[in-house]
Parts: sequence; structure tokens; C-alpha cells
Amino acid sequence: MVLERLKLRHFRNYASAELELFPGKNVLSGDNGQGKTNVLEAVYLCGTGSSYRTARDADLITWGERGFYAACRFIRRREPLLVEIGCTREAGKTIKINDVPREASVENICAANVVVFGPDDLRMIKGGPVERRRFLDTEIGAVSEVYRRDLSAYRRILAQRNALLKDRRYDSMAARRDPALEVWDEQLAAAGARVMIKRAEAIKKLSVLAKVAHRHISPDGTLEMVYRPSFHVSMGTLGKTQGGDGETLRKWEDAFRRELEKVRPEEIMRGVTLVGPHRDELSFIVDGVDMRVFGSQGQQRAVLLAVRLGELEFVRSEVGEDAILLLDDVSSELDPRKRARLWEYLNDRVQTIITTTDERLLGDTGGAAKRFRVQAGRVEEVR
Ligand SMILES: Nc1ncnc2c1ncn2[C@@H]1O[C@H](COP(=O)(O)OP(=O)(O)O)[C@@H](O)[C@H]1O
Ligand SMILES: [Mg+2]
Repeated sequence: MVLERLKLRHFRNYASAELELFPGKNVLSGDNGQGKTNVLEAVYLCGTGSSYRTARDADLITWGERGFYAACRFIRRREPLLVEIGCTREAGKTIKINDVPREASVENICAANVVVFGPDDLRMIKGGPVERRRFLDTEIGAVSEVYRRDLSAYRRILAQRNALLKDRRYDSMAARRDPALEVWDEQLAAAGARVMIKRAEAIKKLSVLAKVAHRHISPDGTLEMVYRPSFHVSMGTLGKTQGGDGETLRKWEDAFRRELEKVRPEEIMRGVTLVGPHRDELSFIVDGVDMRVFGSQGQQRAVLLAVRLGELEFVRSEVGEDAILLLDDVSSELDPRKRARLWEYLNDRVQTIITTTDERLLGDTGGAAKRFRVQAGRVEEVR
């Protein structure tokens, strides 16, 4: 996957901008607050359909303007792929792919695979479990439409089951044998098991890939990613078939249903579903130590970079093509040794857009690079 051209109008601090990108490394340098990250955000937006920095599309509109337009011309599987996103304060977001309008409510369009590493990433380790579930969902959703559908089905069922639980709270004795609730249990377990199995399989693969990258970036310590579902299930038969075979699926559904029975009195009392993938956790462990609790900032960054590089490999193995890599502010995120190892690891294979306050801080990125200077919402190529 390659990004050839980016066009912006009234996007963040850009009145208008146009960039022709190089298939290898692209370096954007400029002082803080000039608009470097905004460019990465626009690329991510066109690749996935939403920003990674804000959930409100209107935040992306230049202050005082009515709407923005962002367009990326990608090459995907040797075919041109033109993604155009428009948004106005009144009418919200519209998406066009190769001139055909797409329903903007499909949150993750995933027209192109984009992987981003930057200062916002620390949230994934330091933040609450919601952040890590979001990571899993974007990560797996980006390579699997089936997962996106399963997940939205699960969320729908969960919302309806929660509504019923809240409703039944006042008559708890009757609710214990409520056929309506049992119907929702069945559906929740069926949809939930599919989501959980995909997460477990993806984490298993990612863990291996991230471990290799981590060893390269930071030779001291072995990284492992561990899936922690909200109830115990046997991971034994996983990974033999995509999405779990019938037997695995039944096993996980049974386990889920048993758990729901167990927690039912408490669920009725609290009026909310207490187990399932919406309560999943993911841990990053280095040599047996949980990085969320005990990792230094530097160790956490190395882990996150390794996870992102693992993600790149994951996309390649699932989609058959490299994702576009966005590296935000690597000079402040990584020490010189880790940066040097990163360039060595990337080895000019992947199209990369790098932002930095000072190009000299990057060191020798290896291979050819195209350089841009970013200043007050203007981007110019440096020749
Ligand atoms: N919706 C917006 N309209 C106009 N300017 C914006 C908007 N959102 C952010 N900005 C401005 O964009 C700049 C930040 O750009 P950013 O790409 O994050 O900078 P950096 O070069 O440090 O990465 C800030 O000056 C901020 O005020
Ligand atoms: Mg920035």
C-alpha cells in the first residue's frame, strides 16, 4: 500500500495543502504546533474513516470554517484508490471511495491500512482497559470485515440485554427465571464467543510478531502480549482454524453461558452485564513484569513501538500488503540507539511518514527520503 498524494482543505490548521509523497521515507520537520501531526491525522483519517486523536469529526474543521475536505490517493493492490472525506458542521461526515459515496456510519471503512506510532500511544499502556480494547478492535477490524460485523452485533445485543437487566432490577426474583433474559443470554454468548476467539487468535499472532520487533529495538527483555478475558476459558485449541472451529466456538459459548448464570443475581442487582468481551483485558509483559504497572516510560515506549511494528507484520500476513507507517515525533519518543535500530528494522521496505522537530535528530534513516518543511499550516518540499 502506498500513498501517492494528499490534499487538504480547511483541515485543522491547513487552509489548503497538497503533498506528493515518496514511496519510501518521507520526513516532515518543523517546530511544535506547526501542523506536522495534523498531516498524519489526515492520512489516518483517509485510511480508516476516523481520526485517532478525536472522536468528534467537527474538531478537524478549521476554526471558523464550515467544513473540511481531505483526500488521499493510495495505490492498493496495484490499483488506484481515491478516498475523499468531507465534513460540515451541519451535515457531518461523508466518504467517497473512487467517486462512489459510502455510508459514513460504517465507522471503520479501512480502505487502506495505516499504522501509527506516536506520543498518543502511551495511553494504550497507561490508560484504562477501554484503550486496550479499542486497540484490539481497530487492529483486528482493520484486517477483518467479519470481525467488524461480529463486534457491532455483540454491541447491539449487549445494549439490549443491559436495557432489559435495568428494567428487571426492581423484580429480581422473577428475573432469575426470565425467558426473555435467557434469549438474550444465548445471543450474547454466541456473538461474544466469536469476538473473543478472534481477539485471542489475533493476540497470539501479534504477540509473536511484536516479540521479534521488540528484541530488535530493545535487546534486553522478552515481550509477551497476554489476553485476559473476563472469565476463564481454555485457550488450548486456538489457532488451528481461522475464527475457531465449531468445537472451539461451542466450548467458548458454553463457558460464557455458564458464567452468565453464575453472575446473574449480581447482574440483576446492578442492572448491567458483568462478563464478556466488553470487559476483556490485554497485558504487555516483559520478562514476566507487567509494563503497565512497572514499566519505565522508556520501556513502555519500546513496547509500544514493537507492538506497532508487530502490527505492520500482522497486516502484511493478513492482507498481503504492507501498511503505511506513520511515526510521530520519534526524536522525542525514542533514544538515539532505539532510533538507529528502528531504521535498521524498517530497512526501506515500508512507506513511512516521519515527523520531527529537527531532522538532525533522526540520525541516518537509511535509504532515500523525501523532505518537507512544515510551518504554520503550510508544507513545502525541501530540495
Ligand atoms: N480545528 C482546528 N482549526 C485550526 N487550527 C487547529 C485546529 N486544531 C488544531 N489546530 C492547530 O494546529 C496546531 C497543531 O498542529 P499539530 O499538527 O498537532 O502540530 P505539530 O507540528 O506540533 O505536530 C496547533 O497550532 C493548533 O492550534
Ligand atoms: Mg505533533
